[in-house]
Amino acid sequence: MVMIPSGLMKYHRGKFSLPIIVITVCVLVFIAVLYTERLTFISSKSIFKFKTCPRKNIKPKSTVAEDEKRKKEENVVNASWIDDRFDFDSEECNVANGKWVFNQSIKPLYNDTTCPYIDRQFSCVKNGRTDSDYHHWEWQPEDCTLPQFNPELALRKLQGKRLLFIGDSLQRNQWESFICLVEWIIPEKHKSMKRGHIHSVFKIKEYNATIEFYWAPYLVESNSDINIIGDPRKRIIKVDAIMDRATNWSGVDILVFNTYVWWMSGLRIKSVWGSFANGEEGYEEFDTPIAYKLALKTWANWVDSTINPNKTRVFFTTMSPTHTRSEDWSKKEGMKCFNETEPVKKKKHWGTGSDKRIMSVVSKVVKKMKVPVNLINITQISEYRIDGHSSVYTETGGKLLSEEERSNPQNADCIHWCLPGVPDTWNQIFLAML
Ligand SMILES: *[C@@H]1O[C@H](CO)[C@@H](O)[C@H](O)[C@H]1NC(C)=O
Ligand SMILES: *[C@@H]1O[C@H](CO)[C@@H](O)[C@H](O)[C@H]1NC(C)=O
Ligand SMILES: *[C@@H]1O[C@H](CO)[C@@H](O)[C@H](O)[C@H]1NC(C)=O
Ligand SMILES: *[C@@H]1O[C@H](CO)[C@@H](O)[C@H](O)[C@H]1NC(C)=O
Ligand SMILES: *[C@@H]1O[C@H](CO)[C@@H](O)[C@H](O)[C@H]1NC(C)=O
Ligand SMILES: *[C@@H]1O[C@H](CO)[C@@H](O)[C@H](O)[C@H]1NC(C)=O
Ligand SMILES: *[C@@H]1O[C@H](CO)[C@@H](O)[C@H](O)[C@H]1NC(C)=O
Ligand SMILES: *[C@@H]1O[C@H](CO)[C@@H](O)[C@H](O)[C@H]1NC(C)=O
Repeated sequence: MVMIPSGLMKYHRGKFSLPIIVITVCVLVFIAVLYTERLTFISSKSIFKFKTCPRKNIKPKSTVAEDEKRKKEENVVNASWIDDRFDFDSEECNVANGKWVFNQSIKPLYNDTTCPYIDRQFSCVKNGRTDSDYHHWEWQPEDCTLPQFNPELALRKLQGKRLLFIGDSLQRNQWESFICLVEWIIPEKHKSMKRGHIHSVFKIKEYNATIEFYWAPYLVESNSDINIIGDPRKRIIKVDAIMDRATNWSGVDILVFNTYVWWMSGLRIKSVWGSFANGEEGYEEFDTPIAYKLALKTWANWVDSTINPNKTRVFFTTMSPTHTRSEDWSKKEGMKCFNETEPVKKKKHWGTGSDKRIMSVVSKVVKKMKVPVNLINITQISEYRIDGHSSVYTETGGKLLSEEERSNPQNADCIHWCLPGVPDTWNQIFLAML
């Protein structure tokens, strides 16, 4: 309680130029908040950030004044007409705590016809998906407001910078979403795309900025990233080697990493150290979380020894849930995410497609790092979205599924996401953190 007066005094001194009425509103809301026992999320730090108070329903000044007069005469403590959620701040607000809200008037900023950079694998509408409710869900955190994705703001933040997404196909899903969210405001002659086998670069000339993708599904080296080996039993991972890939990641301003699904083959992970000294036969097999931890530590050491946090910001996207076991949300076995058109409603729903042991490794490794790593924690919010996957509106081996193949749930891709879709919300969170 001692914190409160000093916090408010500081606020008064610092922001004296603000209309006095807004301050009054702030104070009233603050009192209301105190009395409704929502103190749990108000740390001393957020009190100092009290300037973020009335955002959602802020009204033109004159009407605020009139409203205010009227409200004062009513019950001062009842301030439920104001949205008391704070502006997004990744340190203060747990974005994972919230809900998906359906709103028919929400329109994605792009579609898979207007944005030419979407892989066929994610182009669900083009591939025949006709239900569209999945485009109209908005993620609303409980304790704060998540700003809409603003492409102009995104480009200003990227001005003169290189943004590089590194990881697997889900990271490519996020990369393409990010490009599509911003590219439509850039005139044709000011942008270009160069796709490569490993490294792809989208350039925005007038902003001297790039949005790039680097394929490294395990982050560390393996015998199955540059030349993919179909049979997971033959894949061998060099859990202590990263330099071959990482030399291409230096000098970048914003790095966004991920790695998850490639570790989840269900098999123990064949791992080697050193320089394959005994040949690839010199491997040892580990349970997934152990091999994952060794690899993530290799990555963490590289970041800590190479990245200057004053020059480069580092992000890590947490695991993207897979929805291949419909029993997880009480549907018939074997249906996977097939035919799903609505998110799971059950609060804190968590299926078997998100491995808590992996989450815990990420959390522990990142906590010990010297360089601050911002976690884009998308796992919980995406767990609800069984409706957002490419499902049968995808392709295999460069070919679209036939009508008949499409009626078989076994063919559903319940790992990747339609674009526009769920990864747009990941990027909404990412931009808010940037
Ligand atoms: C607070 O105000 C709202 C709307 O103005 C009203 O519906 C609600 O009953 C009020 N609550 C109390 C406790 O006065
Ligand atoms: C639905 O979205 C529109 C456009 O973003 C917004 O103006 C409106 O307030 C939203 N409706 C609800 C009920 O949130
Ligand atoms: C995509 O958006 C464009 C422009 O807004 C619109 O003309 C077109 O009909 C949309 N296509 C689909 C398949 O929704
Ligand atoms: C463009 O950005 C790069 C870094 O990405 C920087 O080295 C270069 O000086 C910039 N050029 C201009 C003209 O701003
Ligand atoms: C990585 O960097 C090396 C050395 O600069 C370069 O020769 C190579 O082409 C780069 N590889 C990729 C995939 O960008
Ligand atoms: C980053 O900046 C801070 C403050 O300006 C400085 O103390 C620190 O040494 C810098 N770190 C590096 C790695 O340059
Ligand atoms: C999938 O949904 C369609 C349309 O709602 C329905 O006709 C079909 O029977 C469903 N398929 C299965 C296997 O449930
Ligand atoms: C991400 O959020 C979930 C749900 O709130 C939480 O259980 C998990 O620990 C978080 N992950 C990390 C790495 O902090």
